[in-house]
Amino acid sequence: MVKNNRIQTLAELTKGYHTVLDIGTDHGLVLLEAFKKNFIQTAIASDIREKPLNQARRNLEGYPVSFVLSDGFLQINQPFDLAIISGMGARLIRKILTHAPKDKTFVLQANDKHEELRRFLNDHHFEIIDERVIFDQFYYVIIIVKYGKMDLTETDLYLGPILRTKPEAKSYYEFKRRQYETILPKVSGTRKKQIEKIINFFKQETNTST
Ligand SMILES: C[S@@+](CC[C@H](N)C(=O)[O-])C[C@H]1O[C@@H](n2cnc3c(N)ncnc32)[C@H](O)[C@@H]1O
Repeated sequence: MVKNNRIQTLAELTKGYHTVLDIGTDHGLVLLEAFKKNFIQTAIASDIREKPLNQARRNLEGYPVSFVLSDGFLQINQPFDLAIISGMGARLIRKILTHAPKDKTFVLQANDKHEELRRFLNDHHFEIIDERVIFDQFYYVIIIVKYGKMDLTETDLYLGPILRTKPEAKSYYEFKRRQYETILPKVSGTRKKQIEKIINFFKQETNTST
């Protein structure tokens, strides 16, 4: 079993789904963990590049997996229940999601700009059904979505509408507040005002959460 908390958490989120599509699978480690724990029956490992896909092929040898060279969802023609898009920038995830089928669940783990991803989800008829934050040398935010409707406030964009209800988010919010506080002396004008506002979002949550 892998010791990597991020991979383990992503694999755990596949529990109960039959066929999982892993977009940008790289070495196929999330699927490997999901198979080892018997969370899933079959999978589609996909990547835009041949080299990582071949690495996934080697790591997942013997498991019921189809390997597909694909740009996001574009070349995926097989059925699946859950798609994972993880370990990428928020902008790439947004681009990939513009071609997402409407009747699935998606596990998204962006490496940055979670507020931009949430804004995109809000504006493109997705609904956040769960959020997690885990620490594995860095903080990782995982957002689980399906098609639906939500109306996020600006505070929700930064804190996460579900994440803000979770006690484990508190240390993450403290980390984010400190991160924004280091930016503050380097900016001025409207950018400074915006950063002050964001710091307050994180501050309020860490003051009121138990
Ligand atoms: C940093 S790795 C992340 C690997 C894995 N998903 C994880 O969470 O550890 C990103 C992978 O996404 C692939 N990728 C980048 N753009 C893609 C796209 N448009 N469609 C499919 N895969 C893509 C890259 O080739 C690379 O293997």
